[in-house]
Amino acid sequence: MPAVDEAVIRTAGLTKIYPKSETPAVDGLDLQVRHGELFGLLGPNGAGKTTTVGMLTTRVVPTAGQAWIGGIDVVGRSTLVKQVIAVVSQQNTLDRSLTVRENLFFHGLLFGYSRRSARRTADELLDRFHLARWADSPVRALSGGMAQRLMVARAIFHRPAVLFMDEPTAGLDPQSRLALWEILSGLIAEGQTILLTTHNMEEADQLCDRVAIIDHGRILALDSPAALKQAVDADTVVTVQAPGEPAELARLLAREVDGVNRTRLLPGGVELQVTVAGSNRLLPRVLNAAEGGGFQVADLSVAARPWRPSSSA
Ligand SMILES: Nc1ncnc2c1ncn2[C@@H]1O[C@H](COP(=O)(O)OP(=O)(O)O)[C@@H](O)[C@H]1O
Ligand SMILES: [Mg+2]
Repeated sequence: MPAVDEAVIRTAGLTKIYPKSETPAVDGLDLQVRHGELFGLLGPNGAGKTTTVGMLTTRVVPTAGQAWIGGIDVVGRSTLVKQVIAVVSQQNTLDRSLTVRENLFFHGLLFGYSRRSARRTADELLDRFHLARWADSPVRALSGGMAQRLMVARAIFHRPAVLFMDEPTAGLDPQSRLALWEILSGLIAEGQTILLTTHNMEEADQLCDRVAIIDHGRILALDSPAALKQAVDADTVVTVQAPGEPAELARLLAREVDGVNRTRLLPGGVELQVTVAGSNRLLPRVLNAAEGGGFQVADLSVAARPWRPSSSA
């Protein structure tokens, strides 16, 4: 048996450069996700979240670096990896020619279940995901939230080592979103390892054990939501590294980011002092403001260290 804290997902220098693209979509990612953890990849559109999930689920071939799921090489042994993972993608991948129950049942057969146990597991899952009433309905009768619950049910049918979910709550109404959060919490309570992507800081905060904030395919910060927030609850100093004119970046961030008290110029970036009142969703807001002003953020970090007033700009 693997140790409880052993990494179930591990990447080393994982990189993807799409053909005809000059900048990497994912740039030397080093990541470890532990057993039973709900790990969040948080980042804006184009940050590299889907590409990362694509590489970890064997759909996208890395340009460089390596990744392992439960110690199995994702590139070298992709067929085996596919058997131990599950993916809920952003698209509806249900079979529209089948009923709700059949979508689960045939998935079970595909994964080697007998007809009898496939049927039993399908019915258990329908109960558990509050879909039993629709068991014999065609999948097109399902609302978006229900269709997604069915995709999650199908994904965990074969008890995968890791469940990947790419922006699972994007486009869901608030009620379906809450229902999904509940389901995910239940899965985590049972020890299911989950990696999800989101561009919603609140969602990452609500759900995740640890969060990696990524942009331009690189990790800018990685910690528990509590630690990320604790850092921003105290007298917070945010360091932003970005090519370009630091003075211009400082002016931009002082103007665009609520709660910035002072700025200080650094070689290749700026330091911001932010008030507690300005700490809500601070890192995504700093990131959006910088990029909205045309700066490519190379590094972003947050610390609860005292501001040195003598040298403030
Ligand atoms: N199939 C593809 N071909 C070329 N470029 C792509 C492809 N998929 C994504 N990209 C580019 O890679 C970068 C990361 O995209 P993606 O992984 O989809 O980010 P996210 O899921 O965080 O929005 C973006 O710049 C995007 O335009
Ligand atoms: Mg995406």
